[in-house]
Amino acid sequence: MLKNETNGLYSFNHIRSLILLITLPLLSSIKISEDVKPVNSETGKVYFIPQPESVKIGVGYFSLVPTTKIFLPEKFIDDLGPYIKEKIKNDAGLNVHVAEWNKTTSSNYIRFDITDDPSIAKEGYALKISSKEINIKATTYAGFFNAFQTLRQTIDGDTKQLASKSIHIPCMEVTDKPRFEWRGLMLDVSRHFQSKEFVKKQIDIISSYKTNKFHWHLSDDQGWRVEIKKYPNLTIKGAWRANRTGIHWWDREFRKPEEATTIGGFYTQDDIKEVVEYARIRNVEVIPEIDIPGHSKALIASYPFLTCRKDVLFEVSTGGRSPNNALCAGKETTYEFINDVLSELTELFPSKYIHIGGDECNKNDWAKCEHCTKTVKEHGLKDLNELQSHFISRINKQIISRGKTLIGWDEILDGKGAPKAIIMAWRRNRYSPEVDAPRAGYKTIQASYLHSYINNHQGPVDLEPEAPRGIIPLKKVYQYEPIPEGLTKEEAKLIMGSQVCLWGEFTPTSDIGELMLYPRVLANAEVGWTDPSLKNWTRFQHGVEMNFKRLDRDRVIYSRSMYNPFISFAADSLELVAKVHFFTDSDLHNVRFTKNGSEPTVGSTKYTGVFNAELNAVIKAAIFDEKGNKLGQTVTRTLSPPKK
Ligand code: ACM
Ligand code: ZN
Repeated sequence: MLKNETNGLYSFNHIRSLILLITLPLLSSIKISEDVKPVNSETGKVYFIPQPESVKIGVGYFSLVPTTKIFLPEKFIDDLGPYIKEKIKNDAGLNVHVAEWNKTTSSNYIRFDITDDPSIAKEGYALKISSKEINIKATTYAGFFNAFQTLRQTIDGDTKQLASKSIHIPCMEVTDKPRFEWRGLMLDVSRHFQSKEFVKKQIDIISSYKTNKFHWHLSDDQGWRVEIKKYPNLTIKGAWRANRTGIHWWDREFRKPEEATTIGGFYTQDDIKEVVEYARIRNVEVIPEIDIPGHSKALIASYPFLTCRKDVLFEVSTGGRSPNNALCAGKETTYEFINDVLSELTELFPSKYIHIGGDECNKNDWAKCEHCTKTVKEHGLKDLNELQSHFISRINKQIISRGKTLIGWDEILDGKGAPKAIIMAWRRNRYSPEVDAPRAGYKTIQASYLHSYINNHQGPVDLEPEAPRGIIPLKKVYQYEPIPEGLTKEEAKLIMGSQVCLWGEFTPTSDIGELMLYPRVLANAEVGWTDPSLKNWTRFQHGVEMNFKRLDRDRVIYSRSMYNPFISFAADSLELVAKVHFFTDSDLHNVRFTKNGSEPTVGSTKYTGVFNAELNAVIKAAIFDEKGNKLGQTVTRTLSPPKK
């Protein structure tokens, strides 16, 4: 029996009968469904991230035990088999057996079964869990992979699970498909190098939330990160910079002559192949980005002939200041060089896409360069923006000739644009590439710097690690709508999806990198997958809390900033009192506060709305759950009168 529930919240009946549990061995012939271990043993509810298209919870449960058989189609067994075994061991503590379908098996199995059912979308699936068996139907590898992620999320992340011999999975029927084909994460490993192991770990985690694109920002002014056999200097010199650790990113001095270059790193071609293969198993396409013609200081430092000038600093940037960082757009040698690099990238990355950056190119050197100005004249170009589109269109031809598609940041629309390219729309406010690009007929990936740049703070700034000034809390990422208003239906079809971007200026360690990624990556996963009518911030927060347990289990660092309230206040006109307001995205729990500088406890006043406090009072606030656990940190604000 199946029942439909509303609002994306699903509960299933469970009566905890101690007597039944104790007498279980004696009553083995009686079907007992009362000891169902709910996915969330606290609330008895199951929450998915991303929320599937349809979930119908049934009665009873399937017992996952060491003898449960996993049946896979022959063509997927080598790729998916070891992965599934590893994850069931990791999540449930069970060593299960994987094999091809065996008709004689009558119960307690999980069967992945290829179907040609046209109602199942490319990355979609149908998952049916009954007390006897679990059946998964999909048309593609991606569909099976995604179905398995949903199945994994029916298992509580609590590590107590790992000691039990049988895991109870509630009966249910799920049908599902993604809203968008592009559900991405961009990781900048140029500003701070991150190890191959770190990259693989993130691919493993993001894929468990059905994120399927890993955009790898492999070059920028502060480091070139991929071995190119034809141009070894790119990694001998271009991957390393002088150490300015501890000095603010924007205040860093350039490298001095003879100074050692000790900060950096790069991936060998074997490393890249290993990551790409690891990602393939996880239904993640790895898209390399080399950022040209701007952001190219590491290239220029390695091969000075690539710049317009002979008199610039040929050093990898140590921090934010990166003058003269554009490749010469006039010299033939620039195009030959990039063509060679693209040849090796094409071999390394099976993705159909190559991202060539194209953003924020400072064109000052072009204006003074004999080669660039000659090119402008010869090709009748109107201005330097058209020289940029001339550059991009030549690179575009090189990419198309390799059967690939160019992706560029939205600046590639400047000048004459880049026909057939895909636009990654990051700018907003003065610019509107999110609508301009699809209106001009370009396929577009939304990567809004206002909603999706997760290098920004995620809570009250005092408690956050160093970051750019903006604040993009979890809810802001969650509420992002990738299809902007005003597009026609046809134009809206050109929106491929959305991605969050982690720029690396302020992620000097892998721990800080992870802290910035999670849980905001989960919010984007739902933005990319779930139909907007099924999105629900309250349900999603429950899901995040459930997934914190999984992230703990898998030793992933994540931020709890969603539990840090923002405090704002306004002094009244006589400046005798202040009106204080707390802002929190967390609507599952209460904010409690004090007005005398003392530490808030679960017994402190509950915030219910704007309140008065004396000027100069020290307000402290924190979020507590019902049991009295403090969920985040204490936020402090002194109500100082405004400066006259
Ligand atoms: C960008 O943020 N410059 C793409
Ligand atoms: Zn030039």
